Amino acid sequence: MITFHDVSKSFITNNGQKIKAVDQVNLTIQAGEIFGIIGFSGAGKSTLLRLINGLELPSSGSVEVAGQNLAQLSANELAKARQNVSMIFQQFHLLWSRTVIENVQLPLEIIGTPKTQSLQKAKELIELVGLAGLEDKYPSELSGGQKQRVGIARALANDPKILLCDEATSALDPQTTQEILELLININKRLKITIVLITHEMDVIQQICDHVAVMSDGRIIEMGEVVDIFKHPQHTLTRQMVQSTGIDMNESLIDLWAQYSNVYPKGTLIQLTFDEQTVDLPIVTALSQKYDIPISIVYAQIHTLKTDNLGKMIIHIEVEEAQLKQLLQSFINAGVQAEVIDHE
Ligand SMILES: Nc1ncnc2c1ncn2[C@@H]1O[C@H](COP(=O)(O)OP(=O)(O)OP(=O)(O)O)[C@@H](O)[C@H]1O
Ligand SMILES: [Mg+2]
Repeated sequence: MITFHDVSKSFITNNGQKIKAVDQVNLTIQAGEIFGIIGFSGAGKSTLLRLINGLELPSSGSVEVAGQNLAQLSANELAKARQNVSMIFQQFHLLWSRTVIENVQLPLEIIGTPKTQSLQKAKELIELVGLAGLEDKYPSELSGGQKQRVGIARALANDPKILLCDEATSALDPQTTQEILELLININKRLKITIVLITHEMDVIQQICDHVAVMSDGRIIEMGEVVDIFKHPQHTLTRQMVQSTGIDMNESLIDLWAQYSNVYPKGTLIQLTFDEQTVDLPIVTALSQKYDIPISIVYAQIHTLKTDNLGKMIIHIEVEEAQLKQLLQSFINAGVQAEVIDHE
């Protein structure tokens, strides 16, 4: 649905400096998926989104959306192609002088849809986003979550193929964030719309995305299926992001883990990764008993992803080389991934 080939986008700042906001990005976003882009402020996320809706054109490389290279279209064709792509924002960007229903009708008005038709469509969308009964309210009378629902209804008015979300939940409290994310999943399923969302919160990626790209300084430093990225984050930044999410089973142990080399100067630290099939297994206790060795649980965390539950545990043992091999093999035989992260 969306393909970037070696895309770079540079800006010249007011003092003549050149900034590469997007730097040699290659990516493919499949039709119907929820694709997340995560990175810190200034990483280039918004610029990347604006390259998808043609608000920016690449300095080099090419962006293909629904089979069309945006840079090769005439102004008319580009305007038409942009009808396929809608966007929602952190600050909602609603028109304050218009009611809910008038806000939702706006994109239809712009393309000249007859009034009765646009009214009907807006009503259906307001119902879809859960705002039935609030059609005649003004944005100032709504909560943040309700405003974002209006933003979503308006974004869906011209039946887009792609919905871009620029930090759509960053201004909302955790409970409301949850509700909006559920609405986005619902829309993705019901309308088969491709969603690209950018965020600086790994929690958002964890909950609703199929694929994720991690951006830093305009580049994609890591990309893949969310479950794989959570299992094996490669880059330090990604590892930190993954660690920032999930439910920590024992928070006080996290500090301990940070200093594990001081606490456990000897022995071996092993990271175990449990998936949907193995997450309930009492394997650590079982193996500790079987081989009669003490196993300390240093750290444990559960990640609830869109499709899977993932458990991570770090254990410490002090055993002979041969027994270590045997133990690792036993974990693997049980379907639990075991990885030595420190060995003295
Ligand atoms: N129109 C522009 N002119 C000049 N520089 C720009 C322009 N747009 C973006 N930049 C610069 O490009 C870099 C990436 O900006 P971008 O807004 O894409 O980052 P971001 O990841 O969305 O950040 P945030 O999380 O703060 O929204 C920044 O250094 C920014 O200052
Ligand atoms: Mg941004």
